[in-house]
Amino acid sequence: MRKYLIDGGGPLSGAATVAKAKNAVLPLLAASVMADGPVALRKCPPIADVVNMLGILNGLGCRVSHSPDFDIRVDASNAGGTELPADLARELRSSIFLLGPLLGRFKTARAAYPGGCDIGFRPIDLHLKGLRDLNVKITEGYGGIVCDGREMRGAETMLEVPSVGATENLMMAAALAPGRTVIRNAAKEPEIADLQRFLNAMGGRVAGAGSSTVKIEGVAKLNGAEFTPLPDRIEAGTLMLACALAGGRIVLNEVNCEHLFPLIAKLREGGVGVVCGEGSLTVEAAGRPSACVGMETQPYPGFPTDLQAPFLSLQAASDGVCVIRENLFETRFKHVPELIKMGADITVRDRTAIVRGVKSLRGAQVAARELRGGAALAIAAIAAKGTSVVEGVRHIERGYYKFEEKLRALGAKIDVLGN
Ligand code: EPZ
Repeated sequence: MRKYLIDGGGPLSGAATVAKAKNAVLPLLAASVMADGPVALRKCPPIADVVNMLGILNGLGCRVSHSPDFDIRVDASNAGGTELPADLARELRSSIFLLGPLLGRFKTARAAYPGGCDIGFRPIDLHLKGLRDLNVKITEGYGGIVCDGREMRGAETMLEVPSVGATENLMMAAALAPGRTVIRNAAKEPEIADLQRFLNAMGGRVAGAGSSTVKIEGVAKLNGAEFTPLPDRIEAGTLMLACALAGGRIVLNEVNCEHLFPLIAKLREGGVGVVCGEGSLTVEAAGRPSACVGMETQPYPGFPTDLQAPFLSLQAASDGVCVIRENLFETRFKHVPELIKMGADITVRDRTAIVRGVKSLRGAQVAARELRGGAALAIAAIAAKGTSVVEGVRHIERGYYKFEEKLRALGAKIDVLGN
């Protein structure tokens, strides 16, 4: 089992190029099922979630290939599968937003319940309600969902919660549904706008992504297209927080500062210097981080839940007390007991963590239990005094490609043990 060996305590310095966004590439790959010609997605991160999604597309009859630097090509022109393989669907929760593309293209889809994961229950009721609003007949039986989209048509639908996945699923289903669809209370994450750009590049007619109301005019077919996904704001934010925690000065290239302002505002509140350039940014920090009094995760443009764990690591070494509220997922504090092994002083009550900053975290043997909590432990270990071992690196590698190489390029003393 791969683990990190980290010799912490020194400041960071250097430059890194941010990968393309996992949470854009996954829906874009799902959407490629709808194209009746080849799709090319450039510069994709070869992370486990992307590789699993390629496995699912392959299982649906798509011809999938990629170049050495992971320009991905998907040709769904002869695809025909409409059942998501249960084992892969369980492994990759976000495969549920293949329902929309399969219904759009083939008017039928079957899937096992994706189930929860280590950060919460992860229900799909909003996906199913929205599809029913589009007149999809859905039967939920033993362990699975069967969707009949032969009568699917555009409609008005409202999301109880601005769910990213449900917004994306409905945009894709509606793209090939006859008539006009209006999705209200849609999620506004930048990855939604990226999906809109991609669908329109394929000949779709989608507008409003990035606002609460997305409008889609169904078209008869979607063509192949070439597309480059947007930068990964969560990888960028994780590296920014690593520098805020360890101190030093780093430059990140191929970033979009506009998508990072919820974090930039918080970092500046804590005295960290952030300077935005054209497609790049610089982070500069020295000494003990100043505590942020509080932080609440919110749908975009609020503070992203995916940066809550790395942000909590920063607060654990701050000069005060920070109250962090996780509003999106039920159990997203799994990294806290591991941080406590590093000397952190944190109390968790339900969805609230009270973080009393300590002068310095100390190296320890800790274990990642899920993706973002694992990244939070890695950056804490880089700042901690002494040596740490971070187990469960496979969780981190689901969403960060060669994370240890990026951190090493920024001056961290980190090695990977095991295979
Ligand atoms: C996407 O997950 C991201 N994943 C998550 O990133 C991210 O944390 C999340 O959006 C929120 O930003 C991908 O894009 C692949 P949601 P998603 O539906 O779509 C509730 C990471 O670390 N909800 O926006 O599954 C849900 O329980 C991952 O990269 C329902 O109640 O998230 C949660 O409380 C983790 N019913 C809230 O909505 C539903 O049918 C937001 O979830 C769907 C969601």
